Amino acid sequence: MSKRKIALIPGDGIGPEITAAVLRVLDATGFEAEWVYLEGGLGAIEKGLPAMPESTIEAIREIGIALKGPTTTPIGGGHVSANVALRKALDLYANVRPAKTLPGVKGHFANTNIDVIIVRENTEDLYAGIEFMPHPDMAQAIKVITRPGCKRLCEFAFDMARKQGRKRVTAIHKANIMKLADGLFLEEFRKAAVKYPDIQADDIIVDNCCMQLVTKPEQFDVMVTENLYGDIVSDLCAGLVGGLGLAPGANIGEHGAVFEAVHGSAPDIAGMGIANPTALLSSAVMMLRHLGEYDKADRIAAAILKVCGEGKTVTGDLGGTATTDQYTDAIIKEVVG
Ligand SMILES: NC(=O)c1ccc[n+]([C@@H]2O[C@H](COP(=O)([O-])OP(=O)(O)OC[C@H]3O[C@@H](n4cnc5c(N)ncnc54)[C@H](O)[C@@H]3O)[C@@H](O)[C@H]2O)c1
Repeated sequence: MSKRKIALIPGDGIGPEITAAVLRVLDATGFEAEWVYLEGGLGAIEKGLPAMPESTIEAIREIGIALKGPTTTPIGGGHVSANVALRKALDLYANVRPAKTLPGVKGHFANTNIDVIIVRENTEDLYAGIEFMPHPDMAQAIKVITRPGCKRLCEFAFDMARKQGRKRVTAIHKANIMKLADGLFLEEFRKAAVKYPDIQADDIIVDNCCMQLVTKPEQFDVMVTENLYGDIVSDLCAGLVGGLGLAPGANIGEHGAVFEAVHGSAPDIAGMGIANPTALLSSAVMMLRHLGEYDKADRIAAAILKVCGEGKTVTGDLGGTATTDQYTDAIIKEVVG
């Protein structure tokens, strides 16, 4: 039988280092794939191509599944983010970002017990890329929220909650101020909730949500929200459970799925061999589950729990001194038993 094809974008900065670590761990589980290496990010820009070249988008469209390292987006200069371009082109409308306390991992909030999944809209909002300057001293950005976009996202969140045995879905919004745009989102959330009477549904204003997350994060379960709020709230949740080095993500659409860490290319530590590959590794765990490879996914997830929980061989962001390679070796030792 031919191997399953998976698109792979190593990305920029720490991307190639953490991607190599993840491939070593996947290999150790016996997972076999034909990795199709694709270009995206700075490498493409330097060749005069868009950050997410059309050929890469087409290849992922055909393959249907991708693992992606972080890509750098140069500030200004008219460069469209590789991520925004990919999510829009493939209509990967749901960005799923779990944040769960790893027992033993030290952090500012070590005593909290967080287990949330943020479902962030991925194609609309202020990320629609509609910006202009009607006057040299004025810039405007348009927030786009559509009824079909809200409907499919909210239904996705309830559906995912039901499949994963979750009890509650909370909508995050600012409908008290943005009465039309966020009002539309809230209206569709409430309509979706009616279709899932077995799941508790409620909503919260985004600023209060941030405060509640810091003071009483245990109360949240699944959270669904628009693009900008989701971007910020998911980084907050990542910080609550030990930092960006631990936070995985998946971009899901009707016809494709791209798995990537929440964090960026971390140029400040690129090439130093000290990046934490856990976020991308946990994204690969989500990918394995998406592919039905539950045993391999569970083995890696258990290894992460053990190694991070023991805290002996962890990277600097978790208070340790291990290099990326040393941490990866420790994970592999657990995975192969
Ligand atoms: N999905 C993506 O590809 C993605 C996401 C966010 C940002 N970016 C891009 O990445 C670039 C850098 O962005 P930034 O500096 O704002 O955010 P960042 O997430 O790259 O880094 C923020 C901080 O977290 C640390 N960090 C991040 N990942 C880490 C890891 N795995 N291990 C240890 N420490 C880690 C960094 O060292 C840095 O101090 C920008 O060009 C941005 O546009 C890409």
